[in-house]
Amino acid sequence: MGFKALCFGLLCVSFLSCIYTPVPDNIEETWKVMALDTVAKTCSLMALCLENLGVMRYEEFISMIINLDYTQPLSDEHITVTDTAFVDIPVRLYLPKRKSEAPRRAVIYFHGGGFCFGSFKQRAFDFLNRWTANKLDAVVVGIDYRLAPQHHFPAQFEDGITAVKFFLQDKILTKYGVDPTRIAVSGDSSGGTLAAAVTQQVQIDPEVKHKLKLQALLYPGLQVIDTHLPSHRENEHGIVLTRDIAIKLVSLFFTKDEALPQAMRKNQHMPPESRHLFRFVNWSTLLPDKFRKDHVYTEPVLGRSAFSLPALMDHRALPLLASDDHLQHLPQTYILTCQHDVLRDDGIMYVSRLQKVGVQVFHDHVEDGIHGALSYMTSPLHLDLGLRIKDMYVSWLDNNL
Ligand SMILES: *[C@@H]1O[C@H](CO)[C@@H](O)[C@H](O)[C@H]1NC(C)=O
Repeated sequence: MGFKALCFGLLCVSFLSCIYTPVPDNIEETWKVMALDTVAKTCSLMALCLENLGVMRYEEFISMIINLDYTQPLSDEHITVTDTAFVDIPVRLYLPKRKSEAPRRAVIYFHGGGFCFGSFKQRAFDFLNRWTANKLDAVVVGIDYRLAPQHHFPAQFEDGITAVKFFLQDKILTKYGVDPTRIAVSGDSSGGTLAAAVTQQVQIDPEVKHKLKLQALLYPGLQVIDTHLPSHRENEHGIVLTRDIAIKLVSLFFTKDEALPQAMRKNQHMPPESRHLFRFVNWSTLLPDKFRKDHVYTEPVLGRSAFSLPALMDHRALPLLASDDHLQHLPQTYILTCQHDVLRDDGIMYVSRLQKVGVQVFHDHVEDGIHGALSYMTSPLHLDLGLRIKDMYVSWLDNNL
C-alpha cells in the first residue's frame, strides 16, 4: 500500500502541471477560477488513479469528498426546514414561517451531480433552496434520487416522477398550503435533465390533475447521442468539467460497461435504428450562427459499435429526443446556458426546439459562465458568478411563477 500510495502521489504531482486549463479572458475572478479548476481536476485525477489501482471507483472517491459538504436540516427565523420522504424518496422541505392569507407558490428542485453524486444536502443547494423559499415566500422541495452506478436509468427518472406526483396531490398541496396553479420544477446540470424529463411526463400524464406552471433548466444536459457538438469541441478540456469526465459520468447513468464511454468519445455509440433521432439534435439547424461559428457539421457514424442500449434512445433519459408533438405540451420555460460549458449546446438546442413548437421560452446565456457555477456560492469556493446566476434564476421565477 505504501508503494502504491507513493506511485499515485508522484503521478498526481507530475500530472498537476498538465491539468491547468487557461481561463478564458472574459471570466472574472481569474485566480479563484483557476484554483477551483485545479482543485477539481486534482481530485478527478486522484480518483482516476485510485480507480486504476483498483482501490476504489472514480465516483466513490468524488462522493467521499462531496459528502463532507452535506448539511443538516436547520430551520432559521424565516423558514422551517425538515428532511422527510415522499413515498420513499428523500426530500428536504422549506416552509416559510410567515403567516400567509393566500396559498403559496412552490418550487421543486433537482440537484446536479452527473447522476452519480450529490444531494439536496450539499451546502450550495441548501443555500439556493432556502434563498428561493425566502425570496419568493414559496414552499421549496429539494428531491434526492437514487444515484448511478448502483442504480441505472430509469431509477433516477422514476424517483423524480414518484416524488413530484406525490407532491402534486390535492391533500399534500393543501397540507403545505400550496397554490396548485403556481408550481415550478427546476434543476441544474443532471438535475436539469431530470427536471426536463419529469416535466415532459407530468404534462401529459392523465393521472396528474395539477400541471406544472413553469420549468427552469440551469445548464442542463439534454442529450448524448451526438458528442461532437461545437460546445464539446470548444470545451473539451473545460473548466472543472471536461468532455471526458462528462462522458464517463453519463455512461454510468446507463451502464457500467466500459465499451459505452469508449464509443461515445469517438461519437460512434449509436445504432443504425437511431438515425431518425438525429434531426432532434442536428446542431447545424438548431444552433444560431453565433454558436455554430465555423464548426463543420458531420453526420455521426452509426452502427460502429456493438452497443445497442434502448435507454440511449429514450426521451425520459435524453429530453431532446422527445417529438415536437410531445414538446408542445410543455409549460413556460426558463433555460440558462453558460458559454464555457461542454453542455452549453444542449440547452441552446432545446430553446430552438421549444420555440419552434410555440412554447414560451426565456433564454439567459451567461457569456462568462462555467458549468456548475451554482455549486460555487458558499465559502471557501464562492464565485460572484454563482451568486449572479442564482439571482437571474430566482428573479425569473419570482416574476413568472
Ligand atoms: C442536418 O442538417 C443538415 C442541413 O443543415 C442536413 O444536410 C443533414 O442531412 C441533417 N442531418 C440529420 C441527421 O438530420
